[in-house]
Order: sequence, then structure tokens, then C-alpha cells
Amino acid sequence: MINIFLKNYRKKKKKKVRKKRKEKRIMTLEDKRDGWTKKWGSDDFDPDWELKSFPESIRELIEDGLLPDGTTVVDIGCGSGYLAAKLAEKAYQVTAFDFAETAIEKARKNYPEGPGLKYYVADATAPLPFIDTFRIGIDRGTLHTLPMNNHPDYVKNISPIIESDGLLIIIYAEQIARKLSGSPKDNHGDSLKDHIFKLFEQTFNIIDFENIMIQSQNKDDVPGFLIILRRNGEKISGVNL
Ligand SMILES: C[S@@+](CC[C@H](N)C(=O)[O-])C[C@H]1O[C@@H](n2cnc3c(N)ncnc32)[C@H](O)[C@@H]1O
Repeated sequence: MINIFLKNYRKKKKKKVRKKRKEKRIMTLEDKRDGWTKKWGSDDFDPDWELKSFPESIRELIEDGLLPDGTTVVDIGCGSGYLAAKLAEKAYQVTAFDFAETAIEKARKNYPEGPGLKYYVADATAPLPFIDTFRIGIDRGTLHTLPMNNHPDYVKNISPIIESDGLLIIIYAEQIARKLSGSPKDNHGDSLKDHIFKLFEQTFNIIDFENIMIQSQNKDDVPGFLIILRRNGEKISGVNL
């Protein structure tokens, strides 16, 4: 009787330890890719942040003349393709990529490729399968989803595809920026700005850093940051963090 009790107790304890280890495990880029591939491959995946209408923050940049008509744009981590397709409809020359094959399948199905719209399965932190360069890079929620230790690879990889004087526009949720500041009371904007500055200092200058609200489908919009970086033309020789 005691033996059975002990056996069950040990079994439960082992299960608990395994669960704790799993929770603590740091997500690698491969874990993330598998996660995203699974999500985008599921018919039920309908995240609140998925775009169903044109984002206000990008509309304002267009109205301000920062994205001139016909400009070449790369959508980094394009998900199911809404923004890339809408920009292509507005006559931008758009290349969109995502490392989740299932995201690109969905994007191709939702918004087929055409003369101004090309998709690739590609990882923002690894050599890219195209040689084009772009005036504008847009990253809505991709850098913010990358494990921190992959941020320098992102910079090394993305900097060369943005033309000198071109812009990299990053949308980053405040909730994620919180991880950068030790205390929940800190101003996450300051920590994020500092992180972005150090990360990109060799190749980009921060020209704007604003608080914005990120559109959400069914919930209230969520606070975030719009970061605009201008490519300074420097070549990369290593990135500091
Ligand atoms: C929060 S979603 C945003 C998707 C899209 N930009 C949007 O606004 O709807 C982040 C996207 O980045 C993609 N992603 C994450 N890490 C990536 C990487 N290293 N290279 C390419 N895509 C990546 C994910 O597969 C996912 O589709």
C-alpha cells in the first residue's frame, strides 16, 4: 500500500518537475518557427492583432509623404499578407516574407502574387533568398516576437536590404517591450528606445519613436511603439548589444 502511494507520489513529482522545466525553457528561434508554422497552419488561428483594415500608423506615414508612390517595400514577417497586399494595391512594389511556410501559403491564397507583390518563405535572421534592396522596410510585430539573442542577426541581415537613406518602420507592442525593463514601473518606451539605439547604431539612425495604439480585432487596441529608422549607409562589421 505504502509502495503504491510512494510510486504515485514520485510519478506526480516527476510530472511537476518536467512541467516546470518546460515552462522555464527559453524559446529558441526553431521553437518559435515551429510555433508560428503550427498556428498559421490551423484554420482556427484568428489572432486579434491580425490586420483586417489598413493600419492607421502606416496610413499617416503615407499621408505625411514618407512612403512615396511606387516605392519598393519589404514586409518583414508578413503573416497572412494583408498589409503587403494592400500596399501593392496602392501601387507600391512589395516583397513580403515570413519564416512560417504556412503563413506564406495563407498569404498566397488570400492575396495572390502579381506584378507588384511577391512572397518568399524566409527567415529575417538568415541569408535571404532574394537580392533586391528596398526604400522601405516594414516590420509589424516581427522583431518583437524574436528571441532577444537573435536581434543582432536580424540587424545584420536586414540592414543590407534597406537602401541608403531608406526607412525601416518597426511596430513593437508595449507588452513585449516590458520584458526589456527590469521593473514593471519603468517606462518601457525608454528601455526599448535604448535597446533599439544600441542594436541599430551602426546602420540606422532613429528618426522617430512614438507611442501608438495597435489595432486589435475583437479587443481594445493595445499600446505599442512606432519606430522609424533611417539607413545611414554604413556597412556592417558586427553588431553590439
Ligand atoms: C505578430 S505576427 C505579425 C504578422 C504581420 N506582420 C501582421 O502585422 O499581421 C509576427 C510574424 O512574424 C513572423 N516571424 C517571426 N520571426 C520571424 C523571422 N525570424 N523571420 C521571418 N518571419 C518571422 C511570424 O511567423 C509571424 O507571422
